[in-house]
Amino acid sequence: MVKICCIGAGYVGGPTMAVIALKCPDIEVAVVDISVPRINAWNSDQLPIYEPGLEDIVKQCRGKNLFFSTDVEKHVREADIVFVSVNTPTKTTGLGAGKAADLTYWESAARMIADVSVSDKIVVEKSTVPVKTAEAIEKILMHNSKGIKFQILSNPEFLAEGTAIADLFNPDRVLIGGRETPEGFKAVQTLKEVYANWVPEDQIITTNLWSAELSKLAANAFLAQRISSVNAMSVLCESTGADVTQVSYAVGTDSRIGSKFLNASVGFGGSCFQKDILNLVYICQCNGLPEVAEYWKQVIKINDYQKNRFVNRVVSSMFNTVSNKKVAILGFAFKKDTGDTRETPAIDVCKGLLGDKAQISIYDPQVTEEQIQRDLSMKKFDWDHPLHLQPMSPTTVKQVSVTWDAYEATKDAHAVCVLTEWDEFKALDYQKIYDNMQKPAFIFDGRNVLNVDKLREIGFIVYSIGKPLDAWLKDMPAFV
Ligand code: NAD
Ligand code: UDX
Repeated sequence: MVKICCIGAGYVGGPTMAVIALKCPDIEVAVVDISVPRINAWNSDQLPIYEPGLEDIVKQCRGKNLFFSTDVEKHVREADIVFVSVNTPTKTTGLGAGKAADLTYWESAARMIADVSVSDKIVVEKSTVPVKTAEAIEKILMHNSKGIKFQILSNPEFLAEGTAIADLFNPDRVLIGGRETPEGFKAVQTLKEVYANWVPEDQIITTNLWSAELSKLAANAFLAQRISSVNAMSVLCESTGADVTQVSYAVGTDSRIGSKFLNASVGFGGSCFQKDILNLVYICQCNGLPEVAEYWKQVIKINDYQKNRFVNRVVSSMFNTVSNKKVAILGFAFKKDTGDTRETPAIDVCKGLLGDKAQISIYDPQVTEEQIQRDLSMKKFDWDHPLHLQPMSPTTVKQVSVTWDAYEATKDAHAVCVLTEWDEFKALDYQKIYDNMQKPAFIFDGRNVLNVDKLREIGFIVYSIGKPLDAWLKDMPAFV
């Protein structure tokens, strides 16, 4: 029986390995992590991450051919294939701070693999890493190997949160990069056979190591670039009376462009886009390519601009101050169908409103008060470090309250901001919400999910990203 061990039981390691276990009953899969609470949660009824469809798979496979453990060394020692799916955060200090990927967790995993191994292994980069990381990892493994042979593969993960299981069941492609040597080709073939249990062979792309590593950064940069492009258009729409939804549709029906990923929003979030683009920018700078670095940096700049201008729009519409006004926030996760808040635009929007002394009341169906308070008190980039390294009792932001009920969050509020596109927000009783709010009552839809005409009929002053502006908003200087 082939044995797989995955180091890192996070948003990627957990779901990916659960699907491998489900699709390959002849493979034993162990997912290991240094975080005891995380592993305990994987072994409980309350999984550490919310992902539609995940719980069923874990329940089917756990204890049969899927195991979660903190005994990292034992499982690595026994494995034929070791996936490394640890976090690769943006560096917060030292050389490349604020841009470069911090490979501390990766390096310590590689050193541990070299230390404990007693048989040859294939080591798979599952984490997103800077191009050429495999070379560094090879050096660490070779110099500490005691004669054991390691083959490094790059097998970046393309799943998106909220749809992880569907993405893993039916990926657009699986990408495997390896050394172009007989041993390298053999290792690629071994991993290919794992995926071939459920992925059609022509969808398994094999490349050299550096192409695979760079393709992952490139894919995320292209995806984020589409969002920044449509968000840049949304500003122009507001100035001219064009409607960004109509523009996106008209542009996206060109088959060369395609319709996906053209939804204007308050800004993209999530653990990957910003981190990976900053990493790409840093790599370009290190390779003496300042023009290319600037080009990609602009994707982040537009995203920051979009979040700032949303805050400015809220404040300027409400007579240029939100001091002591209750502002309800509907949605805190970075997208629907996940409880993940890493780099969610809600953090920057809330911080902006708090800077103007608003009283904020937040409702998200999947995010706890503890998580929100932690996010709002944490420094930029500190979030992507293992939970056990994060402050246990962060300072509570007193102007913020969190509730499990949208009607309570919006009661007596001057304004409502929709920051995540949860389906349930479309079905709320907005007449009831309006009746219980201060007047004039404002709604700022950062996801373009609400029925603007209906809200206006009820009496709301409505702002929806990239849509023709209400007369009220036109009259208020927007400072965007
Ligand atoms: P995560 O923070 O959820 O999980 C990483 C886990 O690794 C943590 O639980 C941490 O405790 C553990 N870990 C760190 N060092 C360790 C060590 N030395 N030994 C054992 N465990 C260790 O991160 P994630 O979202 O799963 O992302 C992992 C990687 O995959 C990142 O490089 C990310 O960029 C990439 N990625 C993420 C996504 C996504 O949607 N989240 C998608 C594709 C790729
Ligand atoms: C992303 C990539 O899509 C995935 O391939 C990679 O493996 C990890 O990073 P993820 O961050 O989980 O996945 O979610 P994604 O669906 O890409 O959304 C990212 C952000 O962009 C979210 O905040 C989302 O709301 C926003 N977004 C997405 C838009 O604002 N508009 C869109 O049209 C699409």
